[in-house]
Amino acid sequence: MGLSCKERIFMVLLGVATASGLTVLVLLLVEATSVLLPAETKFGIVLDAGSSHTSLFVYQWPSDKEKDTGVVSQALACQVEGPGISSYALNPVRAGESLKDCLEEALALVPRGQHQETPTFLGATAGMRLLRQKNSSQAGDILEAVSQVLGRSPLDFRGAEVLAGQDEGAFGWITVNYLLGRLVQYSSGQWTQPAEGMLLGTLDMGGASTQICFAPSGPILDQSSQATFHLYGANYSVYTHSHLCFGRDQVLLRLLAGLLQPSLQSSPASLLRHPCYHSGYQTTLPLATLSESPCVRTAAPLDPTQNLTIEGTGNPGACVTALRGLFNFSCQDHGACAFDGVYQPPVQGQFYAFSNFYYTFHFLNLTSRQLLGTVNATVWKFCQRPWKLVETSYPGQERWLPDYCASGLYILTLLRDGYGFQEESWPSIEFQKQAAGTDIGWTLGYMLNLTGMIPAEAPAEWQAQSYGVWVAGVALAVLTLLAVLGAAAVHLFWLRD
Ligand SMILES: *[C@@H]1O[C@H](CO)[C@@H](O)[C@H](O)[C@H]1NC(C)=O
Ligand SMILES: *[C@@H]1O[C@H](CO)[C@@H](O)[C@H](O)[C@H]1NC(C)=O
Ligand SMILES: *[C@@H]1O[C@H](CO)[C@@H](O)[C@H](O)[C@H]1NC(C)=O
Repeated sequence: MGLSCKERIFMVLLGVATASGLTVLVLLLVEATSVLLPAETKFGIVLDAGSSHTSLFVYQWPSDKEKDTGVVSQALACQVEGPGISSYALNPVRAGESLKDCLEEALALVPRGQHQETPTFLGATAGMRLLRQKNSSQAGDILEAVSQVLGRSPLDFRGAEVLAGQDEGAFGWITVNYLLGRLVQYSSGQWTQPAEGMLLGTLDMGGASTQICFAPSGPILDQSSQATFHLYGANYSVYTHSHLCFGRDQVLLRLLAGLLQPSLQSSPASLLRHPCYHSGYQTTLPLATLSESPCVRTAAPLDPTQNLTIEGTGNPGACVTALRGLFNFSCQDHGACAFDGVYQPPVQGQFYAFSNFYYTFHFLNLTSRQLLGTVNATVWKFCQRPWKLVETSYPGQERWLPDYCASGLYILTLLRDGYGFQEESWPSIEFQKQAAGTDIGWTLGYMLNLTGMIPAEAPAEWQAQSYGVWVAGVALAVLTLLAVLGAAAVHLFWLRD
């Protein structure tokens, strides 16, 4: 007996429902496994050899999302014991040895099977830039010593170099905008460039130099301070400058030398009354510390065998005057200029301030976007507190405690008088150590650049892939539902009689 026409329709609808239902199930399982069983994790390592110390960062990311934005996170931040590598000028081998403990930690974290495919870089910044100016063969020996240690490890060591100041600023800018997803955005199935105002400027301060990088609203009139990138299909043009000898540690030394200068003429240096230290604070310092700094120039030679006794007077007004003496603001009268003749367009947009900007302002409780007037008053009040009170209020912080007043006033002077932030633009600065759980600095941007993880073009296949699967899945699910309903209807109304 043949099937009736109605029975055939019923069977066909049932078949369609089964086929499309099964396909939806398969699609769901495929998507689920790719979610539930994450792809292999890849790793990359960057050593940040700063002027005062070295840090090692291990980054990780899922291998199947390598070229997406914001997928890299920090797996380890290891602080190398001892001073920055530039301090080992007389014993370069020890610069290499100093890295070993952190290297061990990194090797323990990255699975053994992946050691050989883990790209590893070392970048040195202003401390080594200064040493190279002073004695380039010593700088070369140090780079060679650290390269030897890293080259002997099982990692894929790709080299050690001294970063140009411009690059240091630009890579910090890439790090922040990458981590916060400001370079490309994914919304309603499309990768798009965020609006121009979404880009974040960056302010970085190390021990020996400080960097500023941002996208100005007008043209950049000095080619030497311009960096251009082609990222995810868009062109970016940013202003970037690194002010050498304007890092925190060197500024403190230059400040000391500047205050010492007038008294040198009358008597040999032995006692210095210092307005940037709290009243009642006293310390001694070998003059060699000053004479060895490549940023310090004194008219009269200093006797490096002598000690200097420093007494705080806790006078923020005199301290600001002394700090301003480290800058030459005269170029501001003739157009777009920061200080010391360095071109700078007007600051524009939101900024992230990290490293020493953050550490100082975090200590002073000034990281919650307070008004500039409040910030100024808070730092002044802190500077005027007697040392006895300060010392007992912050036990266990002796190492940096005496310097927060000077570095707080320095940051204010740099940002306000140097870069030109004012009451209205001040709240656009966010003081942060991390973005999306990863420490902010130049290292991540450097790695992304050297490994080609930020493609020049927006990867069109991203949208096609995941978008297509979902469209197909939903269409098939609808088809299944319609077929089941149809079959049920045929069964109920036609096949009864
Ligand atoms: C300088 O100070 C150090 C340590 O405080 C001391 O050992 C040294 O003898 C002092 N030198 C002079 C010349 O006073
Ligand atoms: C910061 O805030 C904490 C807690 O409110 C306080 O104990 C500390 O003294 C403040 N630090 C400064 C420098 O004012
Ligand atoms: C900072 O605050 C002090 C004390 O309140 C004040 O004398 C000084 O003028 C302020 N500085 C600026 C630039 O507003």
